[in-house]
Parts: sequence; C-alpha cells; structure tokens
Amino acid sequence: MAGPKGGYPATLWCSVAAALLGSLQFGYHMGVLNTSLWFVALDLHFDYVKAGAFVVAVLMVGASLGALSAGQIADAVGPGRALMYNNLFNVAGCILCAATPLGYSSLLAGRFLTGIAAGAASLYVPRYIAEISPVRIRGGLSTLNQVFICVGILLAYVVGLPYSGKQPYDLHIGQSAVAWWRVMFGLALIPAFVQLLALAVCPESPIWLEWVGKIDAANQARRRLLGADFSQELTHPDDAEQLISESERVSEAVAEDVGEASWSELFSPRYRRIMMLAAGLPLLQQASGINTVIFYSSQVFEDAGLHQPVIGSIIMGGVNVVGTLLAAFLIDHFGRRPLLLFSHAGMGLCLLTISINVFVPVPPAVEANIVLAAILAYTLFFALGVGPIPWVYLPEILPDRIKGRAAALCTCLNWVANLVVGLTFPMMLRVLGLGGSYLVFAVLNLFAVGFVGMYMVETKKRSLKHIQSLLLVHQD
Ligand code: GLC
Repeated sequence: MAGPKGGYPATLWCSVAAALLGSLQFGYHMGVLNTSLWFVALDLHFDYVKAGAFVVAVLMVGASLGALSAGQIADAVGPGRALMYNNLFNVAGCILCAATPLGYSSLLAGRFLTGIAAGAASLYVPRYIAEISPVRIRGGLSTLNQVFICVGILLAYVVGLPYSGKQPYDLHIGQSAVAWWRVMFGLALIPAFVQLLALAVCPESPIWLEWVGKIDAANQARRRLLGADFSQELTHPDDAEQLISESERVSEAVAEDVGEASWSELFSPRYRRIMMLAAGLPLLQQASGINTVIFYSSQVFEDAGLHQPVIGSIIMGGVNVVGTLLAAFLIDHFGRRPLLLFSHAGMGLCLLTISINVFVPVPPAVEANIVLAAILAYTLFFALGVGPIPWVYLPEILPDRIKGRAAALCTCLNWVANLVVGLTFPMMLRVLGLGGSYLVFAVLNLFAVGFVGMYMVETKKRSLKHIQSLLLVHQD
C-alpha cells in the first residue's frame, strides 16, 4: 500500500476506520443472537423453536428494505452523511432490544431497526470507502468491509462468552446471568455513537460532492483526504491508473448515453449477462448456507455433542476473520473466478462430510469432532472466496449507468435469500436433522460451482471497460 512521500493524511485513515464501524455493527447484529437466543427466549418467555427464528429473521426483513432504499438516500444526502444518520436506526434498535419495554414485540421492532441499518450500511460502507480512497489502494481498502463484518460477528461471539457452558434449562442459573443478552445489545451502542460523532467531522465523498455540483467542497475534501498537493498526486505516474479509469468512465458514459437507467432497463437484454452474475453471485453466497453457522453455530455444535459450543463459535469466527484477510491478498493473485470455484467446491465437500452420518451412522463422540472440524474448514473455504468475492465483483461488472439501482437490487436479493435461510434452517434441522439439512446446502454449493464455471468472467487485472465490453450483450 505505497502512498505518496510522507503517506496519506490521517484524515483518510480515520474516515475509512469510521466507515468500517458500519461493517462492524452489521456483523455484530448478525452474530449477537448466536450465543444468546436460548436465554433471550427464557427471559422474555417465548418459544425458542417457534418464535426464535423470527427474532433472527426480522433483521433481514429490515435489511432488505434498508438495502433497497439506500442508493437513493446516498444520492440525496451523500454516502458519508447517509452512513452517519444510519446510526439513528442502530441507536433506536439497540435501545429497544436492550430494554424491551414491550417484551417480545419490542425485541422484534428493535431487530427490524438494526436490520434497516445493517442493510443500508451494506451499501453505504463500500460506496463511501471506494469514493474516498486513492485508486491504487482502493481494492485493498474495499475488502476491509468484509473483514470488519467478520470482526463484528467474532466480537458478538466473544461478548457472548458469559453464556459459555451454561444451559438455559439449568435451574441454578441466576436471573442476572440469563439477562446478559441485554448488555450485549447495549454494548452495540458504543460503535453507533462513535461512528455518529466521527463521521460528523469526516469529509463527504468528493465524487458525490462533484456530482451535485459542489466543486469547491469536492476539492477541499480531496485535499483533506489525499493531501495539499492532491492534484499533483493525481498526475503522479503511480496514479496513472486513476486517470485511465476516469477517462474510461467518461468514454463509457458517452458510448452508452449519460444518465441513469430506469428499473425496467435493468432487465433489458443488453444487461442480461451482467444482471445474471450481479444477482447470481450474492444469491449463491447465501445458498452456500454460511449464515446457518453465523446464526446458529452454537446450537449446531451443541446438537452435535460439543461441550463448549460458545468456544467453538469463537474459533469459527476467528477463522472467518483470518481467512478473509488472507483472501484480500489472494484475490488479485489467483483471480476471482478460480478462487470462487475453489471456495464453493470446498464448502460443498465440507458439508458432505457433515452429512456423512445420514448414510453411515458414526458414534456421537466422533460426530462432534467431525462436525467441529468440518465447520471450521467450511468457514475457511467461505472466507477465502464466497464471502468477499461477490462484493468485490459487483462494482467491477456494473456499468455506471445501472450501478446505483442494480447494486441496491442485488444487495436486497442477498438479504432476502439470507432471510429465507435464517427462517427455514431451524425448521430444516427439525425435519431433516443436521446431516440432511447440510446435504441440501452441499448440493446448492455444487450447483454454484456449475454456475460460476459456466458464466463467470474473470475481472482480475482487466480494465472496467474491457470487463463490461465482455459482458454487455450487443444487439447489432
Ligand atoms: C458476507 C455475507 C453475510 C455473512 C457474512 C459472514 O458479508 O453477505 O451474509 O453473514 O459474509 O462473514
């Protein structure tokens, strides 16, 4: 990450860090019920099996709506400001979840609000970071979004440690120990307030400022982010790539008419291949089944006979963080397509291993170890490709003209698929058992291998113009 002499101003790093608090909160709320849901159900007197999945899933209902509306909100107020105000949903959501003034229904309302914030952040964070970063380090900084989602998930598991080794049906467990989940939700107020304050003093995206005609403000923001000599910085030979990509964007816009495509144009034959990939990869990311472990690993480990399921989840969360960091380095070396193929194939094989006891009954002690090892390997395969690649690939293949709407739609689809998985997995577990349920996801991963193998075009070291010319369907 070589910068100009003397490095980039601290404002750049602070702004990136402030934005990443959005990814961290998204991850935290994805993981927060993993260790605590049983105790929440006990405390609020609802049925874990019947009502628990709704508490998990209502987050995704909010997130789907948040993602769908985020593009227009960011266009109206700027991605930086939009991300800052997004914390109001987080603050209100956390307070409702921690205090539950109306019991179960306030928990649902609070999860819905944190969901809106998570869905919107899944658009704002990558966009803000991409628009404030110098081009030569943009790819690296963009993958930090997924890294911090994983860090947020891991933090949620670690904060759930007091539940380690405790059984919800243990009569000796005190009320304060049961109610720890309220503290878990309360702690999430810290990153929300820090981000609210930090983004208030960070520069708005210069690209957005320019787009709304505030040229002086855009230059001032660039100066703060890239240094006083930012214009020289842009003509520095190292930044030739930035100039090339800017001129590409212009010629592309000229070639395709300036302006934004309508919703219906997204489905025109011209964008068919692009949309198939842009929607397909995030959908298959969810079909890989990753969120069954992100949400329910403690229960899966416990069902498999593991004595310390919370510790198992923490190790799994750590593997996810380390694997994603590794992916940030591998992505430009091996390319997106091979890594994604390897990742889906590996995930499928790990799930098949878990399903083995559907065909060959294994002793319980062996099963617990097989499940733990297979889930850790499965998470590692996910982190190396299926986790980060759809989010890196989307902006690379979407032409400017459809970028706003298509990104919102595809991100929303990802959350809807996440909702389906979150809602149905507990039922699948009851009906099909662990082995049977994971057999379904194993098949979906093998299908993903076929889809990626047939349709995905490599984007590594290719210019945006080249990528999109390969994918646009020319009708002449
Ligand atoms: C990706 C997925 C998200 C998942 C997370 C796990 O961000 O989009 O659904 O929970 O990875 O690391």
